[in-house]
Formats: sequence, structure tokens, C-alpha cells
Amino acid sequence: MIPDSFIQELKASCDIEDVVSAYVKLTRKGKNLVGLCPFHSEKTGSFFVYPQTQSFYCFGCGAGGDTITFLRRIENLEYVEAVKLLAQKAGIPVPEDSMDNSGARLKARTLEINRETARFYHQCLISEPGKDAYRYLIERGRTPKIIRRFGLGYAPDDWNSLVDHLKGKGFREEEMVASGICARSKNGGLYDRFRGRVIFPIIDLRGNVVAFGGRAMGDRGPKYLNSSDTPVFKKSKNLFALNFAKASKAPNLILAEGYMDVIAIHQAGFDNAVATLGTSLTEEQARIIAQYTDTIIIAYDSDNAGQAATKRAINIFSEVGVKVNVLTIPDAKDPDEYLKKFGPERFQLLLEGCTNALEFEITKLRKKYDTETADGKVGFLKDFARLMADIRNPLEREVYLTRTAEELGVSPAAITAQITSIQQGRKRVQAKKEKNDTSIYIGDIAAGRKDLDRRRNLKYAVAEERIIEILIKNPDYVPYFLQNMKPEDFVTEINREIAVLLCERIQTHRSVEPMALSGELSGEAMDRLSAILASETIQRAERSQLDEYMAILKEHNNAKSEQDIAKMDPDEFKHYVDSLTAKKK
Ligand code: CTP
Ligand code: MN
Repeated sequence: MIPDSFIQELKASCDIEDVVSAYVKLTRKGKNLVGLCPFHSEKTGSFFVYPQTQSFYCFGCGAGGDTITFLRRIENLEYVEAVKLLAQKAGIPVPEDSMDNSGARLKARTLEINRETARFYHQCLISEPGKDAYRYLIERGRTPKIIRRFGLGYAPDDWNSLVDHLKGKGFREEEMVASGICARSKNGGLYDRFRGRVIFPIIDLRGNVVAFGGRAMGDRGPKYLNSSDTPVFKKSKNLFALNFAKASKAPNLILAEGYMDVIAIHQAGFDNAVATLGTSLTEEQARIIAQYTDTIIIAYDSDNAGQAATKRAINIFSEVGVKVNVLTIPDAKDPDEYLKKFGPERFQLLLEGCTNALEFEITKLRKKYDTETADGKVGFLKDFARLMADIRNPLEREVYLTRTAEELGVSPAAITAQITSIQQGRKRVQAKKEKNDTSIYIGDIAAGRKDLDRRRNLKYAVAEERIIEILIKNPDYVPYFLQNMKPEDFVTEINREIAVLLCERIQTHRSVEPMALSGELSGEAMDRLSAILASETIQRAERSQLDEYMAILKEHNNAKSEQDIAKMDPDEFKHYVDSLTAKKK
């Protein structure tokens, strides 16, 4: 356990604004700050940071908490790790005995194994066992310098080189299996997962080796083998070479399909290329990219698969508000081959002249319909109008509209009419949605979205939340509250969790700052608590208000029907009777 006093000290020396700013672009709004939520995709900011309470809350997805919760979520960390990271940012040493967290230890061990593994594979590549692999890379145009920079390696073509090496370094078998680079065979022994492959280490933003990709050199097995998810690695949340690209001075990032493409692009002097890790682009990856650039250049393979993937990626990027430029690669199957054939200067020209996403979509549409026929023309124009209706900038729309109208020999006014009608339809749907939403304030919607329990018991849930707010603002009311109610009697589960912890901490004179609670509350409860604090419903909390809300809850307890009582097990029944006698007092 990390002592409370340390958390307090940490809290005093970290400002949530500084911590969050490293990940989210924040703008000031009164005494608070607002930005695009890093935890869900949105185009207008509903993610608020409250310097006064040192907390954050997203009115869109309901994520909320303090600095530690924020770090946990965004970096995918255990509580203790997040505290450590925060302490590191603040330059405060963490008390020693707080490392007794087995999850954190396993992650630390996994990272050590990965680092040692990368070292081992690299050593193999540049020595006798990797002779052929090294020649293969050189023949594919890679330089010794870039091989070193990316820490490329070679996994020897036998079953236990790595296992033996790691054993010699003192790693335990379970740790090796957890790291995903070794597996256990049916007879119980360990064997290497990567064999006879060129190795691409995957490095996260903090410089940790988190996973590996391995390319076969012959046609044995799948062409690429990638680490599966481990305690330190989620495929869907990492990008190859982002550790380099994040430091690039280029105004945008290039997204390629494969490891080799990325390395070739870097080798050619463009240090802003990244790739996904053997899967198609995920929303999480797009959101990470959105933190570094507002325009992405997609440089996927020129084959059909690559083009289909481009289209999917365009949609995902538009969800997270990143503009897309599509690089069309003429006369080569991918950036790697293009660079080899035509060199960096030509590639630079391609980058400068690359068509944007809209152009790409329009070309696609033109291919889909035969616009020589009347039917084809109508079909095309319908789809085209839908595409145009999404463009917010009227000037940009004008450009495409005029050009297309001209090409097809139709009047621009006809297309404009179509667009207007689509936009009006969308507005009506939106207005209706908003009207339905105004019955509960927005914090409730966000906090309650996933929580059926809360919605079913809305009246009681709201009373509970106000009680929680009052008790946090006036801890001296807690004894009075406890004379009248038990926090265990709260109707909804999440509020009950918060109330129980709150009362317990106040009675033992411990802090109830959100920062102090995040280690002990579940993620859902932390979200809820942040929603409660962000809503600031109660201005002056008075005892009479507390009485009012308690009365609402008591009404629920008294309303337990005979049927409910009949269904109780002996323990519940005793609790119920106790609660009744307590009330009579
Ligand atoms: N990939 C994969 N598994 C496969 C094939 C591909 O995970 N069986 C992933 C890899 O991340 C690879 C990317 O998809 O880098 C693109 O695949 P491909 O175009 O086939 O490979 P290249 O990177 O072009 O590799 P090379 O140039 O070595 O053929
Ligand atoms: Mn390729």
C-alpha cells in the first residue's frame, strides 16, 4: 500500500492541468479547461479539467477522475504504476515498500525480458547465426545504420536459443511465458515462438520494448508473426515507430501498411512514418495519432487490399477529427518499392502533391457508376451529394461541386438542392435527439449511460448522489448521517460503493479528496464520483437538504414490498429488520 501521506504530498506537487496537457490540447474556459476527450472520439470538446478540484470529467463518455485515474487510463497502468509515473514526473521518490503489487512487478519483469530479448536477437543478427538474415536485409536495401537504429534482430532457427539465453539471465519460466515470446509445449517444456525470422522490435513512447514482429525468410509458416497481447502490450493501442515519429519536426504523420515500408521511409529521411501492427487501423490508434497531428498521410499498398484499407482508415480518422491525405503510389506496390525504384526526391514530390481524402472518395464513386448513362449519373449524383453534405467548409464544397457539375454536364444548382435536402433531414434528426435528451442534465446522461441500475432507480440514485456531494463538502455531517442511515442502504450499487468508502474514511479521519480515493474505488465508481463533483448541483449544503434526500431514500427502504421480504435470505432479512429498528430509535 502507498501511504496516504505520500499521495497528499504528490498531489500538492502535481497540477492536473500540466499532466493532462501532455496528452490533450486544452483551452481555458472560465476557471476550467476543455479539450477533445482522449477516451472516446468526438469533434467538439466535452472533456473538462477542473483545476480547483484537481479532477477531470468527460460529459460525452462519462470518464472522470483525478490525475492518477487519468494516467491509469491513458497509459493503461495499474494504480501503483500510475502513482510511480506521476511521482517521476514530479521528481519525488516513491516510498520503497509500495512496490508489493504483483501486477506491476510482472509488467516490470516483462519489460526486462523484452529488452534482453531485443538485445539477444540483435546480437544474433550481427553475428554468425544471423549471417543470412543480415544479407537479406542488406539486399532489400536496408543500411547497417538503419538496422541499428531500429534495433532489428534475428531469431535463430531452433527451438530454444532464446529460452536458454533468458534462463541464463535468471528469468523464471512463468515470466517468460507471460511475456509472450516463449510458449509451453504439451510436455511442459518451453520453446521459442520466433524461429528463423527477422525481428522488428516494437517500442512504446517511453522507450520500452513492448512486443516483436517477425518476418519469415523462406516460405515456411506465415509471412509475419506478431506478439500477442501481454501485460505490457495491446496491439490495438500501439503504433510501430511512433517512438521516433513523435519527435519529428514534420507537420504531419505518414501511415504505412508494413514494418518494412516504415523503415524504408525513415531510411529515406522522412522520420514521421508509422504503421499499425499486423491489424487494420483501430479507433484507439487513430486517437493516438490525433494527439500528434491534425493531418495524416495514408501511404498504404497500391493493391486492392491496400485501397480498401485506405477507405476504412479514412472513415476512422474522420471520426476522430484527423484530416486525411491519400498518397497514390504509381508504378510500385508499396512505399518501400517506390523508394527503391524512384528515390527520396520523387517520394517527396508525391507527398507534396498527394490528393486528399475527398478526392479519393470522388474518384472511387466515379469508378462505381457509369456516368455516361442516365441511371449511372443519377446514382453517382446521389452518393456525391451525400459526400458533399458532410463537408463543413462551404468554400471547399463549392470547389468540388462546380468541378463535378462541369465534368458531368449538370447544373450545380441541381446538386446543391440535393445537398440542402440531405442536410435539413439530418438537422431534424439531430434536433429531435436533443429534445429527448434535455430531461436529465448532461452529467446524468454520461454517468448513467452504461448503468441500468441507476436509470431504473433514478429518483433514489439522484438523492444518493446529492448526499455524497453534501458529505464531501461537509465531512462534519457524516456522524449525523450515520445516526440516520447506513451507507450500505444506498439503493444503487455504485453510489453504495462510494458512500461506504466515504463514510469509512471520514470516520477514520482520512482524506476524501478524489485523489486519495482513486486507489480504492472501482473505475466505474470513480467515473460516477467525478460526475457528481463536476455537476456542482449543491451550492450551499445545509443539513435540511441532507434530511430531504435521506427522506427520499428511507421511503425506498420502507417501500419494500411483502414480496421482496419473502424473497430475502436470512442475512438480508436480519439486515432489513435491523434497519427498521434503527429507524424507530
Ligand atoms: N502482416 C501480418 N501478417 C501477415 C502479413 C502481413 O501481420 N501474414 C502485417 C505486417 O505488419 C506487415 C503488414 O501487414 O508489415 C503489411 O503486409 P505486407 O504488405 O504483406 O508485408 P510488407 O511489410 O510489405 O513486407 P515485405 O515487404 O517484407 O514483403
Ligand atoms: Mn507491403
